[in-house]
Amino acid sequence: MDIKAGIIGVGSYVPKNVITNSDLEKIMDTSDEWIKTRTGISERRIVSELEATSDMASKAALNAISNSKINVNDIDMIIVATVTPDSPLPSTACIVQEKIGATNAIAFDLAAACSGFLYAMNIAKRFVESKMYNNILLIGAETLSSVVNYDDRSTAVLFGDGAGAAIISKVEEGGILSIINGADGTGKDYLKIPAGGSRIKAGEYSIKNKLHSIKMSGNDVFKFAVRKMSEESVKAIEKAKLSLEDIDFLIPHQANIRIIESSAKRLGLKKDKVYVNLTRYGNMSSASIPVAMDEAFREGKIKKGDKIVLVGFGGGLTWGSSVVQWSI
Ligand code: COA
Repeated sequence: MDIKAGIIGVGSYVPKNVITNSDLEKIMDTSDEWIKTRTGISERRIVSELEATSDMASKAALNAISNSKINVNDIDMIIVATVTPDSPLPSTACIVQEKIGATNAIAFDLAAACSGFLYAMNIAKRFVESKMYNNILLIGAETLSSVVNYDDRSTAVLFGDGAGAAIISKVEEGGILSIINGADGTGKDYLKIPAGGSRIKAGEYSIKNKLHSIKMSGNDVFKFAVRKMSEESVKAIEKAKLSLEDIDFLIPHQANIRIIESSAKRLGLKKDKVYVNLTRYGNMSSASIPVAMDEAFREGKIKKGDKIVLVGFGGGLTWGSSVVQWSI
């Protein structure tokens, strides 16, 4: 008998440290007014010196597990979507596995930038529906403050740290009705961290030239995002054999309020049908969508049976979209 994969638990964690736009005004040539009008962001969270990606990921994971009907021993796969792992080796997923005591789970990281969570969700859906794995823990977790160059005002104001998690398992009602991922490597230079891998090794040259931090062609990413967010949402809705009128809520990747508003407008969705938390967190890359999903659920904005579009884009370039009928 066919089974359907869906979300049976969500959770999130953001660090305590709040960095406001006025804090940034003190260390760079920027203004609260510029940041708010150009991005929609008012503040973001930043890890303490003692925190790394796996710490936030583990807290979000435990939160999601306690909000579900399974326990940690039931988890048989952990995928951590991140571009800011604790270190290149071992994977952050293995560190999380140990921290939360999920001894029965295989564990690996996935790098698809801000689309990482939706890439991981696609993989999880296939494994659950093929009955190879039963309870998959997906985590999007980022310590973007570790790769931000505070001398580059065009990127430094955008990003924040955090983690969101979801458990994907068999569901009786609803589930992941459709999911689409895509990539276009011709845009690989639009958003990158050039050094620290095998091409430009970590050393005096890379540190002096700040090549371990994010470089972005903001306008190119902006144009790509505005087009892709609505196009891919429509594709996911069609793939689910639904129409725009069937959609109850939109949870978009939280990069820029102008990108979100233009996507919502193209989809004909009113403001109260679109979740926005970038005001408080900035862009948390792969953590954006799962944190938003967890908060929207806890705030009662999404409820069992609702049909929700999740959509995101990111470095690579990559993108993903999905229609989920909420099962919890
Ligand atoms: N504070 C004040 N001024 C700033 C600034 C800051 N933090 N950052 C850039 N500026 C200045 C620029 O230097 C430029 O000045 P100039 O006209 O004198 O050269 C001016 O503001 C306009 O810059 P521009 O890059 O055209 O602004 P923009 O309206 O395109 O907004 C982004 C820039 C980055 C906010 C926008 O392009 C964006 O959001 N892109 C998508 C980024 C994204 O989503 N990335 C993550 C993908 S997952």
